Amino acid sequence: MKISVFLSPVEIEADRLAGTWVVVVDVLRATSTVVTAFHHGVASVRPVANAHDARELAKMWHPRPILGGEEGGFRAEGFDLGNSPLEYTPEAVSGRRLIFSTTNGTRTLLKVRQAERVFLGAFLNARALAEFLEKQQPERVIFVCAGRHGHFSLEDAISSGYIIRQIQSADSADDGAAAAQALAEKFAEKESDFFQQSFHGRFLASHGFEADLRFCAQKNVFGEIPEFVVETGEIVLARL
Ligand code: MLT
Repeated sequence: MKISVFLSPVEIEADRLAGTWVVVVDVLRATSTVVTAFHHGVASVRPVANAHDARELAKMWHPRPILGGEEGGFRAEGFDLGNSPLEYTPEAVSGRRLIFSTTNGTRTLLKVRQAERVFLGAFLNARALAEFLEKQQPERVIFVCAGRHGHFSLEDAISSGYIIRQIQSADSADDGAAAAQALAEKFAEKESDFFQQSFHGRFLASHGFEADLRFCAQKNVFGEIPEFVVETGEIVLARL
């Protein structure tokens, strides 16, 4: 299995995505939050580009969906939930449809719609995702790090590398994949440390979200693999 890593969304080129499978990684916090929401029974997640679009779409849905996500890191105006995975409890999300908007994560998902299949990865579901890919044996997988405002973020590269290192038949197809794996090896077992070192980790810690850093650093605790089904625009659980 040939694996590439786009270390930031600026590397996305639509024509390179055709016929490939993509894994979007925004470990702090969008993809960790979506994985958690599915673990706690959310019915589906509709990623949208911004909070305004989320509010407008919600007006057309009956029964009313949950609105979740952030603007500038904080719960967007009029939203039920922010982007802390800790808010996505069974009581809050089970059986409900969620419209979800975040600064980097949902926008990256919307940019990879030309791919054949699109999955969401995080430390939380790393092993499940690696085993799924190993079993399915797609020819080519591209990990796309959501980063921060189009730029590289340490935590997404390390999280991608961590998942890839668990895929036995992974064959690095580019320097991005080699770099992500080298970073994951360097920071192995020190996830909380690098969250504290990364720019976005420090931002979150300084705004009272330390518990989110600890939660998102947990590895292999959930088996759910969210898949963004481009034809419907919805994220649902992947067929295993
Ligand atoms: C994003 O999608 O930009 C992030 O998940 C931001 C955040 O930590 O809330």
